[in-house]
Amino acid sequence: MNITINGKTCTCEKGEFLLEVARRNGIPIPTLCHHPALAGQGSCRVCLVEVDEGRGPKIVVSCVYPIQRECTVETDSERVRRERGMVLALLRKRAPESRRIAGMCRLYGAPELPRLTPADTGKCILCGLCTRACTELSVGAISTVNRGVLKEIATPYHEPSTVCVGCGACANVCPTEAIPLTETAETRTIWGKTFQLVRCASCGRILGTREELELAAKRCGQEPETLCERCRKAATAQILADVYGD
Ligand code: SF4
Ligand code: FES
Repeated sequence: MNITINGKTCTCEKGEFLLEVARRNGIPIPTLCHHPALAGQGSCRVCLVEVDEGRGPKIVVSCVYPIQRECTVETDSERVRRERGMVLALLRKRAPESRRIAGMCRLYGAPELPRLTPADTGKCILCGLCTRACTELSVGAISTVNRGVLKEIATPYHEPSTVCVGCGACANVCPTEAIPLTETAETRTIWGKTFQLVRCASCGRILGTREELELAAKRCGQEPETLCERCRKAATAQILADVYGD
């Protein structure tokens, strides 16, 4: 099927998400809560675009909009810029300490909105990517707690989690750097808990926390890794060379 994005003809499959088709064709659309490994989020609305399927243009959220029929799409029309600017202005209200959102507000001309009382603080936009990453990729150690303006992401009772393995997936997927993760040469600290880091026995590169490696090993029914991927491949190549000769 062919669709037109900003005047460019793009080929796509029925049901493909608009954002993916645009990106594949080199047409940029800004995103915050989109992550390729955790698709279908659709919460920040920064990726909105204008779509006309023959019945007049409408605004849709491109990262979760499946293409069903031929259409024309505008990713940077005046209406899109105006609505995206307003979305960003509201996100800046929610997360005034996020430098990424502040930068996007400047880039997309977000309007200044009146101050809220009490003023919000922090960087979190409550997109939910971190809790999904923790549940789908790891152990489900964090969740959304409280309601309304008190809503936040936390471990149960704000205590160091008993199940967290310190993998850092939540901090890695967070689009606004709202989850503090600190590392020394030996340790990683996240959600109020400090983990011992394990390094590759050959090259010394960080492999992860001890708990993270033990969980991964348990899931595949193997012993925890002691070598990084590169050293493991090198060791395997050496064994093959020893067995079969060069
Ligand atoms: S901490 Fe980050 S990933 Fe989690 S909900 Fe907040 S902004 Fe989204
Ligand atoms: S990136 Fe599409 S809704 Fe957040």
